[in-house]
Amino acid sequence: MTSFTANWSYPTNVRFGAGRIGELADACAQAGIKHPLLVTDRGLADAAITRTALDGLSRAGLISGAVSKQSAGLFADVDPNPSDANLAAGVQAFRAGHYDGVVAFGGGSGLDLGKMVAFMAGQRRPVWDFEDIDDWWTRADADAIFPTVAVPTTAGTGSEVGRASVLTKLDTLQKKIIFHPRVLPSVVICDPELTIGLPPTLTAGTGLDAFAHCVEAFSSPHFHPMSQGIALEGMRLVIENLPRAYNQPNDLQARGQMMAAGMMGAVAFQKGLGAIHALSHPIGAIHGTHHGTTNAVCMPAVLRLNAPAIAARFDRARGYIGIDGGFAGFQAFVDEFNASLGIPRTLAEIGVTDPDPDRLVREALADPSCGGNPIPLTAENLRGLLLELL
Ligand SMILES: NC(=O)c1ccc[n+]([C@@H]2O[C@H](COP(=O)([O-])OP(=O)(O)OC[C@H]3O[C@@H](n4cnc5c(N)ncnc54)[C@H](O)[C@@H]3O)[C@@H](O)[C@H]2O)c1
Ligand SMILES: [Fe+2]
Repeated sequence: MTSFTANWSYPTNVRFGAGRIGELADACAQAGIKHPLLVTDRGLADAAITRTALDGLSRAGLISGAVSKQSAGLFADVDPNPSDANLAAGVQAFRAGHYDGVVAFGGGSGLDLGKMVAFMAGQRRPVWDFEDIDDWWTRADADAIFPTVAVPTTAGTGSEVGRASVLTKLDTLQKKIIFHPRVLPSVVICDPELTIGLPPTLTAGTGLDAFAHCVEAFSSPHFHPMSQGIALEGMRLVIENLPRAYNQPNDLQARGQMMAAGMMGAVAFQKGLGAIHALSHPIGAIHGTHHGTTNAVCMPAVLRLNAPAIAARFDRARGYIGIDGGFAGFQAFVDEFNASLGIPRTLAEIGVTDPDPDRLVREALADPSCGGNPIPLTAENLRGLLLELL
């Protein structure tokens, strides 16, 4: 590799490379933002990486006042698995401060909520009118959508290059997908240095979200040859680099490759997701578990269910991703990979206590990810998966 820094315009403007958070003000200018609101989650509100980002905006005169938790220009009332209540508060802060764009900063939670604030600040209809169903996105006033600059600080969700956000509806505890083509951030800064401080459990959980996106996209029966190719390379990057990022947190090369894999997973899942995500959305919404970690726990059982439909295509991929033994070898690899990254084998071990299987099956069947599973999902096979996992 000649250089580990690059600019891409696919699927949006991406500035990739260590230290490039220093270009945040310039990225705002590129997106047409003069007065940004930085949206992040509570956990990052006081973090050094957040202060660095705010300092950069302040020095360029894009935000005023002292850089602090209460500073103008920062909204951090965002929970993991962010909710409609977080969105309402964010939209209020955005309108009150007369901002003209969002810096969505953080893991999937900060990115998704930031993207939704920019999307919803100018809309008149409730956010649930824009759920990813049929062409509901055409209900939105596209001219009223504010621009977003996305800055991921985890490597996995790929939300920074996604046209949707995942939002928890608090009254029913359902995770809904809100879609509009212009929810895609205008500019992305992918700076692997921002992920150096991510604790190993989150490095593993977020990295395995990227892996789940690639595995499910690769398995999906839909016709999308571009995403198929991207899913294959994304799997290889995770297999080679996640153990390095997990065991040597300062390895910038591995951290950068994982950021690339995260973006690739999100581009790949335009081809479809499947049972892993159909299960992990309701489990995360009801039990508050971490999304990527939940996916990782679910993967071995879903691979067993899907084996008859996907064994041949994984067999074909084995040379490229470097795993012997055909599909059985891939399944054995996933078990060992999970164990080596500290992923438990059951949902109970990640906090799914006292579950209601009927409700989880009902919600999983209603999740849009269902449609991409290579074996049609039914109440029976989903219940079987859950009983195995619980
Ligand atoms: N929009 C999409 O396409 C998409 C795809 C997958 C997942 N998601 C959503 O993303 C969310 C999960 O995102 P996530 O897995 O990135 O976790 P997250 O954003 O919830 O972050 C997890 C924790 O890590 C902390 N954190 C983040 N970056 C850090 C850093 N550099 N150093 C130290 N701590 C850091 C956060 O403060 C938080 O406490 C879920 O809500 C999920 O549904 C969205
Ligand atoms: Fe995911």
